[in-house]
Amino acid sequence: MTEAVLLVGGQGTRLRPLTINTPKPMLPVGGVPFTVHQITRARDAGVTRIVLATSYRAEVFRDFMDEADLGIEIVIATEDEPLGTGGAIRHALPYLESGPDESVLVFNGDVLTGVDIRGLVDHHQATSSDVTLYLTPVEDPRAYGLVPTDLSGRVLAFLEKPTTDEEIVTNNINAGCYVFKRSIIDAIPAGRPVSVERETFPGLLEAGALVTAVVDRGYWLDLGTPLAFVQGSCDLVLGAAPSPAVPRHGDFLALPGASIASSAQVHGGSVVGRDAVVSDGAVVNGSVLFDGARIAEGAHVIGSIVGVGAVIGAGTVLRGVVIGDGAVIGRGNELLSGARVWPGAELADGCVRFSSDS
Ligand code: GDD
Ligand code: MG
Repeated sequence: MTEAVLLVGGQGTRLRPLTINTPKPMLPVGGVPFTVHQITRARDAGVTRIVLATSYRAEVFRDFMDEADLGIEIVIATEDEPLGTGGAIRHALPYLESGPDESVLVFNGDVLTGVDIRGLVDHHQATSSDVTLYLTPVEDPRAYGLVPTDLSGRVLAFLEKPTTDEEIVTNNINAGCYVFKRSIIDAIPAGRPVSVERETFPGLLEAGALVTAVVDRGYWLDLGTPLAFVQGSCDLVLGAAPSPAVPRHGDFLALPGASIASSAQVHGGSVVGRDAVVSDGAVVNGSVLFDGARIAEGAHVIGSIVGVGAVIGAGTVLRGVVIGDGAVIGRGNELLSGARVWPGAELADGCVRFSSDS
């Protein structure tokens, strides 16, 4: 048996306003809450029990998991105050059943990956590591945790979000999935915020613990920004990102009750949510329409997210923007690159041409 802890307590600030009501891992990606992709991938890799380490908006997870049957035991742990990544792992300890020498998987709750989970656990056990990290190479590593290793794969340092050029010593970053020997979790201080990246990993290295890494060059995406969120959803629908929770791949995914006019074009891996409407002549490309969104005649929605029940007026163009739940955008507007409209906001007809570039 392998247990896992899924870290889903972050505020998802970079995805506001979508995360005002819904925590990031519960936002719909490829037609289901993002966390379902991670849970079903773990399940298919042989994980039998998952502790969801929640904090921000814990009740949204609780309500969903009460109804869902994902074929795996799910236990919800909730921090009263967010304890950070390491604090959340330590807080999950009493909920684990593994023995002190057994392997516990830990996942960041916002990474979409094709990593060989079983292979990671096997490597951890074969090397008798204290912790094994999954790394992925990226072009610009500055927004992540940098993890240099020696030739044998032993981790030499952990540099979280480096600020100076001298610290950019590798392109291999922490991809947000670890295997811990359970007794290592026991040693994380309880009851106070701890960053696994800034405190636990550097501390383990200093103490001479055996921290090893596996570099995987397969699919990897951190869904931290609106652009990445849309890309992840499209990749799941198109089949570029692997998930057992997407039963069939295609150019788009229409959820039950969705209505797409015959002269509308929907493609690029877009999702049309439950009871959402795409009217005549509208174009939806590489986008995510949440449940009940309505796209009027001739509107163009490109690389964008349209929140629950939001309305996009006729002929309006959205490109690379986020529209909050219930917002109403009048006809003939143009919102470009990076614009965000807050939930419930209303824009009159043809009054806005917004671009963060202009
Ligand atoms: N339960 C709980 N409590 N979870 C938390 C808390 C907390 O206080 N704080 C953050 N988390 C969860 C988030 O929900 C997310 O799933 C995960 O921990 C990582 O937090 P992020 O806020 O997404 O961190 P990041 O993306 O800036 O950086 C992390 O991920 C990168 C890879 O995507 C780090 O682990 C980097 O080292 C890594 O490269
Ligand atoms: Mg993240």
